Amino acid sequence: MISIISFKILMKFFFEENLDKIYYGFFEFLNFMKKILFIFLMSFSVNLFAQYLTVEKSNLYMAKNYSYLLTIDDFDKSLMKMHITLYEGYVNNVNLRIDQLDKIDSSSRLSKALKKTFAFEFDGMKLHELYFDNLKQDIKINRKSKFYKKIEEQFESFDTWINDFKNTGMIRGIGWVILYFDVNEKRFFNAWIDEHQINHLIECVPILVMDVFEHAYLTQFGLNRKKYIDIFFKNINWYEVSKRYEKVIK
Ligand SMILES: [Fe+2]
Repeated sequence: MISIISFKILMKFFFEENLDKIYYGFFEFLNFMKKILFIFLMSFSVNLFAQYLTVEKSNLYMAKNYSYLLTIDDFDKSLMKMHITLYEGYVNNVNLRIDQLDKIDSSSRLSKALKKTFAFEFDGMKLHELYFDNLKQDIKINRKSKFYKKIEEQFESFDTWINDFKNTGMIRGIGWVILYFDVNEKRFFNAWIDEHQINHLIECVPILVMDVFEHAYLTQFGLNRKKYIDIFFKNINWYEVSKRYEKVIK
C-alpha cells in the first residue's frame, strides 16, 4: 500500500499533467491483458477437448515408426516413404472403423457394410507391420537356426523353399505371400493372399510376409516384379523371421 501511495505521489510530482492519461493507459493495458488471457484459456480448453476426442477416436492402434526403412540402400526412399504413409492410412482407417462401429446400431446397413470390409483395413494394417518388421539390410540367415533346419527338413533344401516362395509371389494379381507355420501339424505353407483378407490359413502363424501389391514395387521396379522379389529376399530380416518361428514352437 505504501509503495502504491509513494508511486502515486511520484507520478503526480513528475507527470501531473499526464496523470489521467497514464492511469487510462494502465487500465487499458490491463483490459488488453485480460482479453489475451481469455483468448489463451479458450484456445487451451478447445485444444484440450479436441485432443480428448482425438485420443478416443484414434489411439487404439498406433502407427509404428518405420523411418529406419528409409536407410535400406536397395529401396528408393520415395517408394518406402509412400509405402509407410499408405500403412499409416490403414491404421487411421482401423481406428475410424472401430469408432464408427461403436457408435452406430449394429442392425443398421451401415454397420453390416463396415463389418464386411473391416478385415481389409485391419489385415492391411497388420500385414504391413509384419512385412516392414521382416525387412532390414545386411542380416544374413543363420544356417544353424531352428528355422533354417526346419525349412530344410520339410523342403528339399532352403533354396527349394525360396524358389517356391518366389514363384508364389509371381501369381498374377495383387496380394501377399506368407510363409505360414501350422502350429498343429508343425509344417510350413507358402500361401497366396488375395488383397489383404482373402485366403488366410486358420491356426497358422505368419513367419515371413511379402507385399506384392503393385504399390510395393511399381515406382522403382516398373512391372519387373521378379526383380523386386529378388531385392526383397536380399533385405530380409532373418533374425526377425527366426524369432517368429521360435516363438511359435515354444
Ligand atoms: Fe503395401
